[in-house]
Amino acid sequence: SDYKLVPLRGFNLISGIHNPEAVDKIQNFEIRDSDVFVITYPKSGTIWLQQILSLIEVKGDVTATRDQLNSDRIPWIELVESEKQFDSAPSPRIRVSHLAYKFMPLQLKQKKGKVIYVARNPKDALVSYYHFHKYANMLETPKDFDSFFEKFMEGNVYGNCWFEHVKGWYSHKDEMNFLYITYEDMIKDLRSVVEKIISFLERDLTTQQLNDVVEHSTFKNMKTNPQANYQQVPVILLNHQLGAFLRKGTVGDWKNYFTVAQNERFDKVYQQKMKDVPLSFKWD
Ligand code: PPS
Repeated sequence: SDYKLVPLRGFNLISGIHNPEAVDKIQNFEIRDSDVFVITYPKSGTIWLQQILSLIEVKGDVTATRDQLNSDRIPWIELVESEKQFDSAPSPRIRVSHLAYKFMPLQLKQKKGKVIYVARNPKDALVSYYHFHKYANMLETPKDFDSFFEKFMEGNVYGNCWFEHVKGWYSHKDEMNFLYITYEDMIKDLRSVVEKIISFLERDLTTQQLNDVVEHSTFKNMKTNPQANYQQVPVILLNHQLGAFLRKGTVGDWKNYFTVAQNERFDKVYQQKMKDVPLSFKWD
C-alpha cells in the first residue's frame, strides 16, 4: 500500500495522509480565543464529538448539517488540506486531532482557545482500533488480534502509546482552557456531557435545542445518517465492505477479545503507567 507509518519527532504519522513538515508547523499557529481543539487518541469518540460540536453550532438543527460530511464540518488539523486553510478560516475554528501534546499550538498555553480531551478506556480503544485496521486501507491489516495487541502495547500505531497520549495532554491541563470528558460518561449520560460541553464553550441553547443535539448524536441515529457515519469516505481510504465506522458503540467489548493472560498483562502495565495519574475508567 502507499500508506505507511512515518515517525516525526518520535510520533507516527501516516505517509500519504499527513505531511510531516506541515504537522511540525502547527505549533506556531496564531490562536484565536474562539478556537476549539478536540483531542483524542484514535477510536475514542472523535466522530461523535464532530457530530455533537457541529450540531451545537447550529443549535441542534440536523438539516443544517445534511449537506456536509462530519469531517468537513469539523476537520482534522493534521490533514494536509485543512492545515493549509487554518490561518484564513473563519471563526470559530473547530478542529479535531490525534496529535501528541508536543505538536500542538504553543499559544494554547497562554489560555487562548479551548481544548476538549476525550478519553476512552484503552481496552475498548484497542479493540475498536483492531477492527479499524482491517477496515481502513491506510493502515496495515493485522494478522490477527494477538499481533495487533502487541502493536498497540508497543505504541507501534498511529497515535503511538495510549498511556503517553493521555498523560501528555492531561499533565498540561492547568496551562490551558481544558475540558476532560470520557467516552464512557457519554455512553452513560450523553445529555449531561453535552451540557458540560455547551457550558465550557459558552454557547446558549434552549432545552429543545439541547434535546435535538443529543437526539441526532445517538449511535443509532448517527449510524443511519450518511453525513455522520463516514459511509461516503472514498473506498481508497475505507473499505466499506469490510466494516463500518460506527461499528458497535459500546463499553466492554474488549471482553470478547482479550485472553485472561492479555488482560492481566494489560492491567499490570496500566497500573504501572497510570500510577500517578488521577484518572479512572469504566471498563464494563
Ligand atoms: S477515529 O478513527 O479515531 O476518528 O475513530 P473515533 O471516531 O475516535 O472512534 C470511533 C469509535 O467511536 C464509536 N462511536 C460511538 N459510540 C457510541 N455512540 C456514538 N454516537 C458513537 N459515534 C462513534 C464508534 O462506533 C467506534 O467505536 P467501536 O467500539 O469500534 O464501535
